[in-house]
Amino acid sequence: MSQDALVLTETHDRVGLVRINNPKALNALNNPLMTALMDALEAFDADDKIRAMVVTGNERAFAAGADIKEMVDETPESMNAKAHIAPFDRIMDIQKPVIAAVSGWCLGGGNELAMSCDMLVASETAQFGQPEINLGVIPGAGGTQRLTRAVGKVIAMEMVLNNRTLSAEEALHYGLANRVVPVERYLEEALELAQQIAVRAPVALRTGKAAVNQAFDTYLKDGIQAERDAFYGLFATEDQKEGMQAFAEKRPANWKGA
Ligand code: CAA
Repeated sequence: MSQDALVLTETHDRVGLVRINNPKALNALNNPLMTALMDALEAFDADDKIRAMVVTGNERAFAAGADIKEMVDETPESMNAKAHIAPFDRIMDIQKPVIAAVSGWCLGGGNELAMSCDMLVASETAQFGQPEINLGVIPGAGGTQRLTRAVGKVIAMEMVLNNRTLSAEEALHYGLANRVVPVERYLEEALELAQQIAVRAPVALRTGKAAVNQAFDTYLKDGIQAERDAFYGLFATEDQKEGMQAFAEKRPANWKGA
């Protein structure tokens, strides 16, 4: 694929890697780039050989936000008519696990994209923020909602209202990141985590991801009922029989993905 492409894709065994490729603008997420990014994730999601994905930027920036220059002259009507933010939502329909590998700036729409992933590996240099207040706006791609659920109200308020930036260690402390590693290792670490997940039972992975995400959408009782239904439902799969038999026979399971 051309180095000028908006995103670059690679496969590592069963893991699909998507690199955001707009380095001159600190990986600002313009609309064509977001469309290409979601196209790439959806293609991996539809590919039976791929079981997990990693989204990354480069060492200097995961992404410094939505493309500000693209939005300067927009109006409420034009933003609505273009459904400007809609590409961000497509990640919610990805069924396979997606890990964000974050180094450097992770701001605005970049942080919103990272938070839309299922897990996050940060380099020690990562900086997380929602600086939209500096532009006279607020986060528009789910930041106020996902950030508040991740870090709690008072830190979210400080980030959204006063441009508080979180270091990688703070992001780990507040639950935005799974782990922090030296900058030389963040992508490798994310790929290793993805590889570990990729060899697990595919139907259970899909079901588990959907069940955890449902926790954000439902009342506790409804979520618990949905989880129970999904759990019972997995007893119709070959993988449940294989997984439990393998445990009893003290051998590794051989997942069929069915
Ligand atoms: N959009 C467009 N271009 C961007 C950009 C963005 N979000 N972030 C950086 N760039 C561009 C800069 O304009 C600059 O381009 P030129 O070389 O052509 O001037 C290039 O990237 C390098 O940036 P800087 O020279 O500013 O680099 P720096 O190291 O001095 O500063 C920074 C780094 C603090 C991250 C600074 O670039 C910055 O503040 N960027 C904007 C961050 C931001 O406000 N993000 C929120 C965007 S709005 C949003 O995301 C809405 C939403 O919720 C969907």
